[in-house]
Amino acid sequence: MKDSFQPILKMLTLMVGLLLSVTLLTAVLIGAIVMVFSGGSLTPLNQINTSEVQNLTVAVSETYRGVVPKEGLWMAPEWSSVDQEPNAEDIKYGKELVANTAAYLGPNGKVKKISNGMNCQNCHLNAGTAPLGNNYSAVASTYPKVRARSGQMEDVEKRINDCFERSLNGKALENNSKEMVAMVAYMKWLGKDVPKGESPKGVGIYEVPFLDRAADPVKGKAVYDRQCQSCHMADGQGMPKPDKSGHIYPPLWGDNSYNDGAGLFRMSRFAGYVKTNMPLGATFERPILTDEEAWDVAAYVNSLPRPKKDIRKDWPDISKKPIDHPFGPFSDDFTEEQHKFGPFKPIKEARASASK
Ligand code: HEC
Ligand code: HEC
Repeated sequence: MKDSFQPILKMLTLMVGLLLSVTLLTAVLIGAIVMVFSGGSLTPLNQINTSEVQNLTVAVSETYRGVVPKEGLWMAPEWSSVDQEPNAEDIKYGKELVANTAAYLGPNGKVKKISNGMNCQNCHLNAGTAPLGNNYSAVASTYPKVRARSGQMEDVEKRINDCFERSLNGKALENNSKEMVAMVAYMKWLGKDVPKGESPKGVGIYEVPFLDRAADPVKGKAVYDRQCQSCHMADGQGMPKPDKSGHIYPPLWGDNSYNDGAGLFRMSRFAGYVKTNMPLGATFERPILTDEEAWDVAAYVNSLPRPKKDIRKDWPDISKKPIDHPFGPFSDDFTEEQHKFGPFKPIKEARASASK
């Protein structure tokens, strides 16, 4: 029964196939004839109208998930060209210090013990060269400058020491030390092609759009448990190296973390850093967290205990405090709570209308 059925089935398939091909061919023929008689033709390339092209570009940009376009972003000078510089040795040592700060200047540092075991590179990724990874592209071009936090003229040395005293919760380096000279040399070399006064695209930290609500530490803990604790650990202490000379994964709170005078203690800095760089592997081209997740995890981490810095001398002009600086007094009527967690839009609007 089965054997005699097979050939018939084959035959039927063949006939149906043939019928379909004939129908299709006829349809194409009729179509072509109609087109010729109605004067239609395929649009030549140079006549494609611009709205079609616009639709096309929209379709392309919809598939690009990056937070900023890739074009025109600053790139560090070619590292191999450093040997042409008269101070190549300083520049190289400077880069080494940025990448492996703890080994030289951490709690067991071989040069000095003046900082908490973090590396500059933990926050200034790829030794301060990553786009929207808090890079140093504008250091050479924009310092010295007056900074509102200190109310003073700051040179590169002062700015580097700010991060030593806050982000690395440590002590300042002497301006004439070999280490300071080297780090300054490295940063000046990185920014050597940036015109004076300019800040290249992709400098610093991404500005995450404000939420309409306050950032929520409880929601942030859920983000942390899902996306961060595998490396930074449930207790936020990261993973110290076995010889305690530094970290494989840096701490996010507690005694070995940045203090409350540091840039990352401001919600917008933390959310922006994390949005384009964390969890490890995220970039501005392929962020992993949503804006809400970035703000909420910032709220969680920056609610936990960390070292305190005496910042009474900061922001001598209180009207210059960033809207997410969480310590009063303020020149507006918003609470410390709102300056810390938001919502920030009302503060921004109030500032804007006050300055009119
Ligand atoms: C815990 C994170 C963290 C660590 C570690 C850290 N920094 Fe920073 N640094 C920041 C943040 C945040 C900013 C401000 C970025 C902004 O507001 O756009 C900053 C800014 C700077 C700037 C100014 C950049 C500019 O364009 O104005 C310099 C220079 C700098 N850091 C040097 C260092 C050096 C050197 C080290 C190591 C000794 C270091 N930082 C360690 C977080 C850190
Ligand atoms: C796969 C491991 C991994 C995961 C997951 C991860 N991180 Fe990190 N994180 C790192 C490493 C490694 C560094 C230091 C980067 C360097 O030195 O190049 C870092 C640095 C940081 C820093 C700056 C340095 C510091 O300690 O203050 C912050 C802030 C941070 N991560 C937050 C987060 C948050 C928030 C999440 C979750 C959304 C997260 N990370 C997920 C590995 C990870």
